[in-house]
Amino acid sequence: MEKLVINGGKRLAGRVKISGAKNAVLPIIAATLLGQDTKSRLDEVPALEDVHTIAEVLRELGVNADYDAEAHQFTVESSNIVCWEAPYDLVRKMRASFLIMGPLLARCGRAKISLPGGCAIGTRPIDLHLKGFEALGAEIEIGHGFIDANAPQGLKGARIYLDFPSVGATENVMLAACAAEGTTVLTNAAREPEIVDLQSFLNAKGASIHGAGSPEIRIDGFSPVPYTEHSVLPDRIAAATYLCAAAAAGGDIRLTHAVPEHLETVLSALRQMGCAIVVDADGIRLRRFGPMRAGRPVITRPYPGFPTDAQALLMAASLRAEGTNVFVENIFESRFRHVPELRRFGADVRVEGRVAMVCGVKTLYGAPVTATDLRGGAAMVLAGLSAEGETQVFDSGHIERGYERFDECLGALGADVKRLEDPQG
Ligand code: EPZ
Repeated sequence: MEKLVINGGKRLAGRVKISGAKNAVLPIIAATLLGQDTKSRLDEVPALEDVHTIAEVLRELGVNADYDAEAHQFTVESSNIVCWEAPYDLVRKMRASFLIMGPLLARCGRAKISLPGGCAIGTRPIDLHLKGFEALGAEIEIGHGFIDANAPQGLKGARIYLDFPSVGATENVMLAACAAEGTTVLTNAAREPEIVDLQSFLNAKGASIHGAGSPEIRIDGFSPVPYTEHSVLPDRIAAATYLCAAAAAGGDIRLTHAVPEHLETVLSALRQMGCAIVVDADGIRLRRFGPMRAGRPVITRPYPGFPTDAQALLMAASLRAEGTNVFVENIFESRFRHVPELRRFGADVRVEGRVAMVCGVKTLYGAPVTATDLRGGAAMVLAGLSAEGETQVFDSGHIERGYERFDECLGALGADVKRLEDPQG
């Protein structure tokens, strides 16, 4: 495993171009499986470990997937799918591989996927995905660590209510419904921008879907076109990460290729805490020179509420703010696992159930810490930027999964961050 070594106390200055969104490109790559003998070319694809993983999954299914990470391009020729079973060792590596269940069911009438486990942030059930597939007429069997979905009579359009606006369930059911006979209406659907991006890719590929971004999505059918091109939307959580990095370390940075409308709640929270933020045609500029202060409670909710993925990042930026900042995590049941690691910097953070209270301290001290998950690991780097002395973030492989060239981008902003092999790792 790698580790990141940070020498804190340096203000950030400069520009970062935000890459394509991890959480948009993964469902879109799964969607390239739809449509016999079709070709898809994706641009602005981020250079991430998770994209390499889903490319391997597609190749295991017999699909011709070509990922040019340097060129940020991904092309798929989905003519022949030789099997409808996803290998355990790949699904185990990345939960999002489960998103191929909907397209496989749509394409082959059959899908056998390893039951995705929980992870550092929660148990992450998939009951809503399965309820949606059953509503479309699939028979589901679970056994020996696998989920086996079968639709011998094909899929039929249905009206499906999601008990929770689950992002993955919304995407998986949208994908399966593309092959259903008749119309499917998904209600209480998730409204994230990544779902709007999936809809625009699917419609470019010949689907007729409307309503993504609202609680009701209507899938009317799918007549695949031979060739589709799509440019993946910018990563709003990567944008939030760099803004929180500048808030934590202080300085003056500009993000280009970011979509401010997709992170309004994060911009509002940072402004309340004392950052000067300007949004213009060229992106988002954040300046923070004075002390940070307490803002209103940060309460994570489904989009357009405050994103759970930015909770740890904003918490890292708040550790030296004057006053007390309160965080309420409503989406995942154990998404405060970064707190004990942040306390190792001398931060004063207390957790009571779903609530974390951050009492600002004057100084943070660099420390050896271990990344717990993708966003928790990024939060530790941000804390290291604003701490005195050296921080080592072990198991930083978690961070590489979801951030393109994180150490280089921070380095270009003036941070002292080095990526080293961890001999003990
Ligand atoms: C997606 O995960 C993202 N991942 C997550 O980002 C993100 O945190 C999450 O959405 C919420 O925004 C990708 O897009 C690849 P959910 P997903 O289904 O789809 C419960 C990151 O750091 N639930 O919206 O798994 C679940 O337990 C990652 O980039 C059910 O109960 O999230 C959770 O409490 C982390 N039953 C809540 O819904 C289900 O069938 C939200 O989960 C599905 C979900």
